[in-house]
Amino acid sequence: MEKTIKRVKTYIQGLDDAMQGGVPAGHVILVSGTAGSMKSSVTFNILYNEALNGKTGLYISLEQSYESLNQHLSNMGLRLDKINIQPVKNLTRIEEVIHTVKNNSTGSIIVVDIGTIRKEIKDIKIADNKSWLNVIKNVVKKVKMETNCSLFVLDSLSALYTLSRFEDPRVELFYTFEFLRDMDLTTFLISEMPLDESKYSEYQIEDFLSDGIIHLRLTPFRRNIIKEIMVVKMRATNCNNDVFSLEFKNGQFQALYGGQNPLL
Ligand SMILES: Nc1ncnc2c1ncn2[C@@H]1O[C@H](COP(=O)(O)OP(=O)(O)OP(=O)(O)O)[C@@H](O)[C@H]1O
Ligand SMILES: [Mg+2]
Repeated sequence: MEKTIKRVKTYIQGLDDAMQGGVPAGHVILVSGTAGSMKSSVTFNILYNEALNGKTGLYISLEQSYESLNQHLSNMGLRLDKINIQPVKNLTRIEEVIHTVKNNSTGSIIVVDIGTIRKEIKDIKIADNKSWLNVIKNVVKKVKMETNCSLFVLDSLSALYTLSRFEDPRVELFYTFEFLRDMDLTTFLISEMPLDESKYSEYQIEDFLSDGIIHLRLTPFRRNIIKEIMVVKMRATNCNNDVFSLEFKNGQFQALYGGQNPLL
């Protein structure tokens, strides 16, 4: 008998139905898109809605500060006061944050602001090639082991490459993806796409290593830009790969198809 796969909703109305209810739990998904295509909003919105349901998520931001992210999400109407949101701007605070998350009955999001941490750290050793990847891995491992965290967003893989240069990407990426799969977290890796949309990821190996690819894009239409979303691949899922327009209305993401294009 076919075993039912546990799925995590993307909380994009219309898109979840296009992939049997959502992303298979524990999968590593690449969320690829050009600048401003709502990569951070869509992924954070997943953690937010899961937190409203009592779950715990980890969001590691490498470039956008916690303040900037918070301002953007609050402006979109996300009620961050309804969840237990815990910024980490100093690695020594991680223990305290984990303690707070463990003792909180509401769902939580731990937001690790690596940009601010980098500015605070004077220790030159941390600037070494592999150190940031290790810092991230250690944070993920610790949060996973000590809390009931089930979701992880890395914003972004592209920013990680500028911090930790991979000498042999094929090998190092293989082990990084293996590490993430072993963590058994539903993981969203944000990938910044070049403007010409020529590739989903920097080395293109990530496309094969990931279990799924969600593509976000901005498409000019007459004198407007439409936001679009499509599921390029999703392992273990019978999915619809159509291009949907992506809208955010009344606090809800929606994927629209066909005659429902808002600009037509
Ligand atoms: N209230 C809102 N409702 C809908 N869309 C909004 C709202 N506020 C901002 N936006 C859109 O959100 C976009 C930015 O979203 P987000 O930061 O998630 O994108 P991103 O792909 O992560 O960007 P970056 O490449 O800078 O990281 C803005 O360009 C704007 O079009
Ligand atoms: Mg972003």
